Amino acid sequence: MSEARLSTVAEPSPSSAGEAVLEIRDLLMQFGGVTALRGINYRVPAGIIQAVIGPNGAGKTTLFHCISGMLKPTAGAVIFDGESIEGLPPHQIARRRISRTFQHVALFQHMSVLENVMLGRHPRTRSGFFSTGFRLPTMRREERRIVEAASEYLDFVGLSDSAHQPAGSLPLGRQKILEIARALATEPRLLLLDEPAGGLNMRETEELGELIQRIRGEGITVMLVEHDMNLIMDISDRVLVLHFGEYLASGSPSEIKDHAEVVEAYLGGSE
Ligand SMILES: Nc1ncnc2c1ncn2[C@@H]1O[C@H](COP(=O)(O)OP(=O)(O)OP(=O)(O)O)[C@@H](O)[C@H]1O
Ligand SMILES: [Mg+2]
Repeated sequence: MSEARLSTVAEPSPSSAGEAVLEIRDLLMQFGGVTALRGINYRVPAGIIQAVIGPNGAGKTTLFHCISGMLKPTAGAVIFDGESIEGLPPHQIARRRISRTFQHVALFQHMSVLENVMLGRHPRTRSGFFSTGFRLPTMRREERRIVEAASEYLDFVGLSDSAHQPAGSLPLGRQKILEIARALATEPRLLLLDEPAGGLNMRETEELGELIQRIRGEGITVMLVEHDMNLIMDISDRVLVLHFGEYLASGSPSEIKDHAEVVEAYLGGSE
């Protein structure tokens, strides 16, 4: 696994460790008659790995959609760095430095690994480097910087060897890592990972856990939706448990492991 550090995400951030970087207030998300989230109040301290767990359909992905702008909450507030962001379109939220990966891999399969990461730089570039044709020297310089930055992210996640392969030719585990590299390339302060270990074997999951901890080491707050309890228990600092769209519990991994209602939610009430 790569030990590379990142040079581009080291900007000082307005919120220091321990302060809430994200605050959810009384969040409600309804789809017609279906209530996917209700009455969610939660604060995520800066610089931690915040796990979000809960049985299928608990509302985890919906929560990420509400934070990243893919969904406009029915009611309630999402406050990032002290400012309300609920209802902003995804590109504006990306510019405020929130980035995410998806539960199902969403890469440009025919583009190279490097190009996929270059696309992640888009919110941080001035001229929109994929506008082809006539190119001014400043644009060429910017393109070179984008390639350099993208290469650095590939190095960070340990995918430099595959830079020029089509993304679709990578095994699933590496595609999931590539998605993380692309998300990192937007220089997030908050990174949302939706089931990054889904479909990974044990060794890949361990490497993923190391990578997520190195991302935290760069000062990036990580929210992690996962069903792999070993991974959650190993690497997260705090755990939020959702159940049927509602807050069920939160605490340290060991508190959550021994929490009677959480155990019951997962076992479906059987004793
Ligand atoms: N676009 C939608 N339209 C209608 N219902 C939806 C929509 N998106 C989500 N839901 C419903 O909202 C609830 C929460 O779904 P969500 O995908 O957030 O769950 P999840 O916790 O991510 O589950 P999983 O662990 O299976 O990924 C579910 O009952 C789901 O069917
Ligand atoms: Mg989900």
